[in-house]
Amino acid sequence: MSAPALRERRDPREAVATFAADVRYYLTQQPRQLPSRYLYDALGSALFDAICELPWYPITRAEMRLIRGHARDLLGGAELPDRLVELGAGNGTKLATLVSLGLPDGRPLSIELVDVSPAALRTAASAVSAVARVQVLTREATYEDGLELMETRRGKERVLVLFLGSNIGNFDPVGAEQFLRRIRRALGPGDALLLGTDLVKPEAELLLAYDDPLQVTAAFNRNLLVRINRELDANFELERFRHLAVWNPDASRAEMHLVSTGRQRVHIGRAALNLTLLEGERIWTESSYKYRPEEVRRLLWHCGFRECRQWIDEPGRFVLTRAAV
Ligand code: TRP
Repeated sequence: MSAPALRERRDPREAVATFAADVRYYLTQQPRQLPSRYLYDALGSALFDAICELPWYPITRAEMRLIRGHARDLLGGAELPDRLVELGAGNGTKLATLVSLGLPDGRPLSIELVDVSPAALRTAASAVSAVARVQVLTREATYEDGLELMETRRGKERVLVLFLGSNIGNFDPVGAEQFLRRIRRALGPGDALLLGTDLVKPEAELLLAYDDPLQVTAAFNRNLLVRINRELDANFELERFRHLAVWNPDASRAEMHLVSTGRQRVHIGRAALNLTLLEGERIWTESSYKYRPEEVRRLLWHCGFRECRQWIDEPGRFVLTRAAV
């Protein structure tokens, strides 16, 4: 088995200051918003793992089936990577499966797990270290910082960047294009990107995926307020916010909001912010854009990737695209 994982952590004081500044900025926008990356504290990551097990959230299972069925080709067939970088690794199950099924015995590989959640990184590092003789480095960082850190160590090796779970869907179209271009700039000849994208499906199915009958997704969304209360010394009253998911067909996206059930004042101490929320006023916490397979290919081509290969699951729910440089 492999050597113990190396860890890179963030300075906690700096992390809180950034969180406070983001909360202050986004909550005073019109419409009010909160960046979705803050959903993933320890409890948020655990709730997200539970979401992935829900019968109404097919994304993770569909992607896992594709990974199980095509591991070797997804890794690159005859052109295996020397270095694998996953942006937003979560609990590491997908990567562990990909490596254990797709990597030939004894083939060395170094892995970098990038995630904003230290709890997720700990789980992911042990999941991945358990399956193969791989060297694992965890980076507690945003996608952008993870890419920058990856670039500073570029050698001659072949790199595969993984961006799974339809996390690309959490960017708006302009942001998605910019971010894919950013990944492209970090890559060189012989490198590739493996991108997981959720596909457009009937509205009823999409709404159940983001507003499940067990209300795990509602808990996941509302936990963001619990986190702000704890880390930023705020006084959000949980019972006065409800979870709302809507499908916006014109923009091809599911939207997640927290809705204020009455007029109320909120104080966020560390962000030096006092808010008055009206009855029915929304805080927009996440969007999840849904694509068509050909849109993904066009977008990747437009961002400078070549040789796209796609794998789509049987009911046509999810697509994995491997794009070379
Ligand atoms: N990347 C996931 C997705 O878009 C994140 C997610 C799932 C999510 N359910 C959510 C984000 C509910 C906010 C609220 O599917």
